[in-house]
Amino acid sequence: MKKRKNIITVAIDSPAAAGAGTQAKLIANEYKLLYLDTGKIYRYLAKITFNEKKINYNFLKKKIDRLNLRKLNDPDLLSDRIARHASIIAKDRKIRKIVKQLQLNYAYNPPNKFFGSVLDGRDITSVIMKDAMFKFYITANVKVRARRRFNEFRKIKKNISYNQVLKSLRNRDYLDKNRKHSPLKKTKDSILINTSKLSKKACFLKIKAIMNNKIN
Ligand code: C5P
Repeated sequence: MKKRKNIITVAIDSPAAAGAGTQAKLIANEYKLLYLDTGKIYRYLAKITFNEKKINYNFLKKKIDRLNLRKLNDPDLLSDRIARHASIIAKDRKIRKIVKQLQLNYAYNPPNKFFGSVLDGRDITSVIMKDAMFKFYITANVKVRARRRFNEFRKIKKNISYNQVLKSLRNRDYLDKNRKHSPLKKTKDSILINTSKLSKKACFLKIKAIMNNKIN
């Protein structure tokens, strides 16, 4: 694959609901980068395979080849049951391989109007963008994350209790960190940002200081 030269590449990994998406959007906006929420791709495939007993990989490959980012805005992808199913199918090596190619294209060949790319997910720093210019591992206490996600669900009128959200996050953390292929982990060269006690703004200022220091 050909890579665009001299672009800014930012890789972020995080457990669910730690605030990575919010920070990635702020980074994208500040530095004019393409933003790809890679979790949405797994959620998209989770929706397609939700009722399937057997996975048709060729069909999924075609779906991914034809995917445009607009399709990832589907509100169905925000539900907890889709998130849980995403975590299950994300263990599958063949599915990860299908998703990988798409991610690489966005990461290294973003459209020319962007100065680079920022991707967030579970295996971005460790597998997809090992050579990223910036690598962050964003995390927060699981109860803080559950509270935040619960509030988000309330805003979009999803009927789910705080305890259900907490249980679901713990379960996904376990699956994502303990799977065989591309488990979530902090790579040695990633900068750890714990957002438990940080506001969105404080967190972004920290990230911006780190990035400006290297870019300027
Ligand atoms: O980030 P989000 O919560 O939307 O991700 C949904 C699920 O997709 C995660 O729990 C994880 O199992 C999977 N995922 C992954 N690798 C990524 C992004 C998401 O395995 N790069």
